[in-house]
Amino acid sequence: MSGIKIKQAEKGQESIVCEIHNESFSYWIRNLGLLYGYKNLEQKDVEKWLLGKNSFVFLAYYEKLPVGYVHCQLEEITGEEKLLRNLVFCETKESLGQSKIGVLSKYRRKNIAFSLVRNALGFSRQFDTDSALFLAYNKNQPVIRLLTKLGFDHKPMYFLDSFSKEKPFVQDSVLAEFDLSSELPNIQLNQEVKIRKILVEDLSSMQRIFGESRPDVFGTKPTLNQIKEWFDSEWGEVTLVAVIDGQVVGCMEFTSLGVIGIPGVLHEFRKQGIGSTLFFHLLQEMKNSGKKKALADTGFELQDAINMYKRFDFDLSRELWAWVNIL
Ligand SMILES: CC(C)(COP(=O)(O)OP(=O)(O)OC[C@H]1O[C@@H](n2cnc3c(N)ncnc32)[C@H](O)[C@@H]1OP(=O)(O)O)[C@@H](O)C(=O)NCCC(=O)NCCS
Repeated sequence: MSGIKIKQAEKGQESIVCEIHNESFSYWIRNLGLLYGYKNLEQKDVEKWLLGKNSFVFLAYYEKLPVGYVHCQLEEITGEEKLLRNLVFCETKESLGQSKIGVLSKYRRKNIAFSLVRNALGFSRQFDTDSALFLAYNKNQPVIRLLTKLGFDHKPMYFLDSFSKEKPFVQDSVLAEFDLSSELPNIQLNQEVKIRKILVEDLSSMQRIFGESRPDVFGTKPTLNQIKEWFDSEWGEVTLVAVIDGQVVGCMEFTSLGVIGIPGVLHEFRKQGIGSTLFFHLLQEMKNSGKKKALADTGFELQDAINMYKRFDFDLSRELWAWVNIL
């Protein structure tokens, strides 16, 4: 492309990448903010990208000025048929943010993003890369058009035989948002269930809850150590459990920023209003702690969770789409 040159960013160029990022992501920083992981970056943030293993930052120069950047990383995934090499266009925040590509507004529509992505794909070929993954919101029209033009493909659940015949290689997720200043809906609560904060004594019950309801986190048989690590990490500012006849049967939590995590409810206790009762108390607790918004991300396969957000009048209009390019 005439006038455009792409070069790998080097140590000492962190502030250039920061400036491009902060200007090009300013809409998301202003409108979605920290809850979704968007913030103005500092040099030390970019330093980590440059030092990361198999992590690459490319800068685009237009008439010798740096005007765009992209950040990507090579990862290996164990597939059923072979080890797969995937080029990930890194997200601003895992499971909530979009892939990091930005072009200064004055230099848009000059094929700069197109050149950055095409260059990264070309660069990755020397490592025998099988696929590339790019993440963007369903409402980000410029990126949807850009990725389509570059040959990326999007499906709500993307299956790749060499990865697995049963499990999707990647899938979209719903970013469900709730305005905590509004009233909680009138939900029929289960009067039998007791809701309380989690205690250390509950951790062995949590092994079964995670194993059954969220095998994606620690597999189907989490060890007590894995559960202890989760508990000690204090990811949740508040973690609530549902107790029936002295047995812990469900768990939900939220972070200090207002992100919800749902380990789940044991199968045999579902469809009895226990999840909704737990969720109602969780939202009430978030309101009491002064949070403005609640945010939950859920893969398309977890339809029960999505239905629960619908019942609580969450806004489900934002989706994080996974785009794949088979190389
Ligand atoms: C998205 C972004 C990187 C595109 O950068 P860009 O250099 O202007 O894009 P390009 O000139 O390479 O565009 C290539 C193609 O993308 C599509 N596209 C880009 N911007 C578009 C827009 N505003 N509207 C519609 N399509 C657009 C078009 O198909 C375009 O090809 P065409 O000009 O032949 O129609 C830039 O708008 C940006 O920095 N946005 C803010 C940050 C952001 O959203 N990052 C992505 C997060 S996933």
